Amino acid sequence: MSDLIRLDKYLADMGVGTRSELKNYIRKGRVKLNGIVCNQPETKLNKSVDRVTFDDNPIEYEEYIYYMLHKPAGVVSATMDNVSKTVIDIIEDKKGKELFPVGRLDKDTEGLLIITNDGALAHQLLSPKKHVDKMYYAKVNGIVTEDDKEAFLKGVNIGEDDITLPARLTILLSDEISEIELTIQEGKFHQVKRMFEAVGKEVIYLKRLSMGGLTLDPNLKLGEYRRLTEEEVLYLKGLQDV
Ligand code: URA
Repeated sequence: MSDLIRLDKYLADMGVGTRSELKNYIRKGRVKLNGIVCNQPETKLNKSVDRVTFDDNPIEYEEYIYYMLHKPAGVVSATMDNVSKTVIDIIEDKKGKELFPVGRLDKDTEGLLIITNDGALAHQLLSPKKHVDKMYYAKVNGIVTEDDKEAFLKGVNIGEDDITLPARLTILLSDEISEIELTIQEGKFHQVKRMFEAVGKEVIYLKRLSMGGLTLDPNLKLGEYRRLTEEEVLYLKGLQDV
């Protein structure tokens, strides 16, 4: 990826204004490049080396951005869809980045979804070889039992070549409608729903609580999102303990 970028795009990407507003600001002398006023929006600069200020406030360039979204039901985990609203449509400030969701939650599933433009981190979190923990809360039609717990620990047949990897089931309520928490290390299509089908039960509500040890922020209401903190990003990358 080239480090060269136009001055107006640099500032637009960092959310300082729209491209046309920025052309104006730049021409009015509000922007300095390496300490010297630069009046030309088309000036190319090196985003890793050059210093940019707007009204004398330093504007640093961020290559990657990371959001935690509390996904509501009814939106699809895709970048584009002809029919339904996508999780990317929810993010208002895309900072000129090509954002995508890290993995998929079903349209009717709620909960934690990481949204970023960092392909390397997405790969690290989604690679089947990495065995990243994903924890779900579910309401299940049917009485969930200790037998189900054992079955999930051993692995169940969901119609793939292999049985599922060992998964930890915690029964919160065992009743006609049971409530559980399940931690899996895979991300097969409809995995949690298919695991319960394999033991003769039906998931009627599903919410992801955590991924890779990152827990959904309880302050985020359905449909709300926030930037990940630097610590959270380092933690997800495996570079820092929380
Ligand atoms: N398992 C499912 O069945 N659905 C999801 O959305 C996530 C995990």
